[in-house]
Amino acid sequence: MKIAGISGSLRKHSTNKGVLRAVAKILAEKGIEFTLVDISDIPLYNQDVNTQGIPASVQQAHDQLAAAAEAIVLASPEYNYSVSGVLKNAIDWFSRVENQAFNGKAVSIMGASPGLGTSRMQYDLRKILVFLNAFVLNKPEVMIGQSGGKFDDEGNLTDERTTEYLRKAVAALIDLSRQLNQ
Ligand SMILES: Cc1cc2nc3c(=O)[nH]c(=O)nc-3n(C[C@H](O)[C@H](O)[C@H](O)COP(=O)(O)O)c2cc1C
Repeated sequence: MKIAGISGSLRKHSTNKGVLRAVAKILAEKGIEFTLVDISDIPLYNQDVNTQGIPASVQQAHDQLAAAAEAIVLASPEYNYSVSGVLKNAIDWFSRVENQAFNGKAVSIMGASPGLGTSRMQYDLRKILVFLNAFVLNKPEVMIGQSGGKFDDEGNLTDERTTEYLRKAVAALIDLSRQLNQ
C-alpha cells in the first residue's frame, strides 16, 4: 500500500508538515510507503492558462500524488476559519487534471493550530472533497488544538498522546482504503 500527503502550509517549520512527518513515521513502522507531495510550485489558478493546458508544475505534483497514493492525508492549518489558499488552489488545479487523483480515494483530513485545531477548516475541506468524489474518513477526526505545546520549534510533533491518536487515525484510513478497494 502507498499513501501520499499534502500540507496546506508551505512554511519551513510548519506544524502541519510536522503532522505529516509523524504520519510517515507511523506508516514506516507498518512497512507502508509515504510520499509528501510538494505544492509550492503550483501557480495561482487561472482559467485562461488552464484553457492552454495544464502547467507542468501542476501535472507533476498531480502525477506524483496519483502514483504515490492509494489513500491521501491532507494536513492543513485553518486560515481565517477555512482552508488555506495554497491547498484550495492546488485542489482547484488537480480537479481539472484528467483522471484526477482524489477520485474514489480514502482521504484523512488532519490539522494543527494554536486555537481550536482547525475544526472550521475541516468541514469546508470535506465539502470540497465531495465534488472530487473522495471518501473522507469520518472518524477519528484529527483536530490538534493548542498546538503551541505539542510541537518543537522546527514543527516536529513531540506530544505522545497526539502521536497515539494519529496511530488510530492512520489505522482507520488504511481500513477505509481497503474497504473501498475490495
Ligand atoms: C493568514 C492566517 C490566518 C489564520 N487564521 C487562523 C484561524 O482562522 N484559525 C486558527 O486556529 N488559526 C489561524 N491562524 C494561525 C495558524 O493556525 C498558525 O499560524 C498555524 O501554526 C499555521 O500552521 P503551520 O504551523 O502548519 O504553518 C492563521 C494564520 C495565518 C497566517
